[in-house]
Amino acid sequence: MTASLKKRIFVTGGSGLLGWTLTRYLPHSESLFQCRHHPLPPDFPVVRLDLRDRASLAGTLNQFRPNVIINTAALPDPEKCERTPQETHLVNAEMPGWLAGWADANHARLIHISTDLVFDGQQGNYRETDPPNPISVYGETKWAGECAVKSRCRNHVILRLPIMGGTSFTGLRSLNETIPLALQKQGSVNLFTDEFRSPIWADNVAEVILELMSNDFTGLLHLPGGKDYSRYEIGRLVFDHFHLPPDRLIPGKIADFTGAPPRCPDVTLSSELSRQILSTPLNDFADGFRQYLSLPKS
Ligand SMILES: NC(=O)c1ccc[n+]([C@@H]2O[C@H](COP(=O)([O-])OP(=O)(O)OC[C@H]3O[C@@H](n4cnc5c(N)ncnc54)[C@H](OP(=O)(O)O)[C@@H]3O)[C@@H](O)[C@H]2O)c1
Repeated sequence: MTASLKKRIFVTGGSGLLGWTLTRYLPHSESLFQCRHHPLPPDFPVVRLDLRDRASLAGTLNQFRPNVIINTAALPDPEKCERTPQETHLVNAEMPGWLAGWADANHARLIHISTDLVFDGQQGNYRETDPPNPISVYGETKWAGECAVKSRCRNHVILRLPIMGGTSFTGLRSLNETIPLALQKQGSVNLFTDEFRSPIWADNVAEVILELMSNDFTGLLHLPGGKDYSRYEIGRLVFDHFHLPPDRLIPGKIADFTGAPPRCPDVTLSSELSRQILSTPLNDFADGFRQYLSLPKS
């Protein structure tokens, strides 16, 4: 590959679970520019940037001139998003629109990450053609971000993800990290038996993004893991893997939940389209402990 044909890849959210995982998978032969908010080790190829600052973002893009932009940055904690709706809207809805506008004007491909929580969870096994009905600030702003990307950038992929396992930079982000931490803090972990998800490993998502960087698919794609589980069953897999005391995992029901935002009972995603489009297999979350957790961290 000649230098001029090399992809110039701009990843936002480099300190996040997915962004951090992704940069470990991207080919070293490509030119990688990773954008993040807080510091990383000094040997990392990063630019520090607050994505709420539109002018700085545009300046950085004009300087680096990527031909692929992967937007993993977001404010993804639904509880925090309820408390900070304006900031959440800026990061989750407006900023993706800015990226999309730049990408379209500069012939770049934009891979934008969204969420299963654009749905209300009353149906389950959602397809790409099902209409979203978000019931939280997080879900609403992610849906608005999708709409901005779709309307402003022709060469886009929107990937809707379920909850993720993986190895994060902070060690505080993935399912396999937060569940043992919650046990350590609280002495037990209460998880719903009637809330269903299609968990996937961030590593598996990174493998898919690698494939999508080079093919010509455009549009919306759901990316569920290979099997659906209740939250409680996910907890059981994590407890079993780390040999945590089984009696400390407590089954709960959504009806017992009194917080905000409201819970989405079943946001499992259909893999029908992704299985047609992708050659990368979407793995059962249960198999990922062996497959991905044994990989070196960087
Ligand atoms: N995690 C999940 O289970 C899950 C499930 C479904 C969908 N998703 C979606 O997947 C994507 C990746 O999620 P994740 O779990 O990797 O998120 P994460 O670990 O919370 O990372 C979010 C990233 O966004 C960056 N960011 C936030 N505000 C910023 C700002 N103003 N300027 C610059 N960077 C900013 C953060 O940087 P700093 O840390 O430096 O602030 C961090 O690197 C998101 O779009 C999320 O909505 C995640």
